Amino acid sequence: MLELSGVSKSFGGVQAVRDVSFVLRAGEVRGLIGPNGAGKSTLVNLISGLLTASSGTMTLDGASLTGQSAHQRARQGIARTFQNLRVFPSLSVEQNIDVARYAGGGAALPEAAIEEFGLRDKLTLAANALSYGDQRRLEIVRGLALRPKVLMLDEPAAGMNEEETDALGRALTWVQAEADCALFVIDHDLKFIMTLCERITVLDMGAIIAEGTPQEITKNPKVISAYLGEDASAVA
Ligand SMILES: Nc1ncnc2c1ncn2[C@@H]1O[C@H](COP(=O)(O)OP(=O)(O)OP(=O)(O)O)[C@@H](O)[C@H]1O
Ligand SMILES: [Mg+2]
Repeated sequence: MLELSGVSKSFGGVQAVRDVSFVLRAGEVRGLIGPNGAGKSTLVNLISGLLTASSGTMTLDGASLTGQSAHQRARQGIARTFQNLRVFPSLSVEQNIDVARYAGGGAALPEAAIEEFGLRDKLTLAANALSYGDQRRLEIVRGLALRPKVLMLDEPAAGMNEEETDALGRALTWVQAEADCALFVIDHDLKFIMTLCERITVLDMGAIIAEGTPQEITKNPKVISAYLGEDASAVA
């Protein structure tokens, strides 16, 4: 449904994303892993239209995304969260969600989403009064309020303890079952990624070096040498 073909991005002399091609199917839960600086966030920025690709093409349900701005892509169903949080700080939790709901055409977000991500009792609080974890969860719910076809999450478990990460995994499994959107999830917490995702794409130095099930990825020699190293046995 989301298809990338030969997508590259350079910043001056740095080639952050190199000739990336892949297909994300409707409703799929895909992980994106790789070392620091591999190009993961850049790829999400290219898909969401925050950055313009140097070359390559992208389509959503067969329609080209080339030349579409970030807000046009959001309207078409591409939602994302940010590695560095970007809630609207002085708006309430509810207003943050309403901004996205308005942008997404006004369809009400299932109340259950607010419940699943633990924001029910916090709707009237200013977003900047929330804990870091709650701000992360708010970004996810705000993304869902767009009623997206694809929701991209850039390190949603960063800074969370094990208990919070487990709860996040359960909430995202709920999203997969109920919200009818594909998830594209970046994280360095491999247990979290391997439990949640059906398939995983691995980036190294801007290029895809592997793609497969969690089991295939943990056994792949290229992935072990580029990223997993001694962790491989811990997540296998
Ligand atoms: N706006 C930018 N201007 C210049 N260089 C950039 C920019 N954004 C990213 N880069 C460079 O592109 C490369 C990929 O960065 P990116 O942030 O996409 O990596 P990442 O895989 O998300 O890493 P991390 O796991 O640390 O978040 C890095 O070398 C980075 O320094
Ligand atoms: Mg990143």
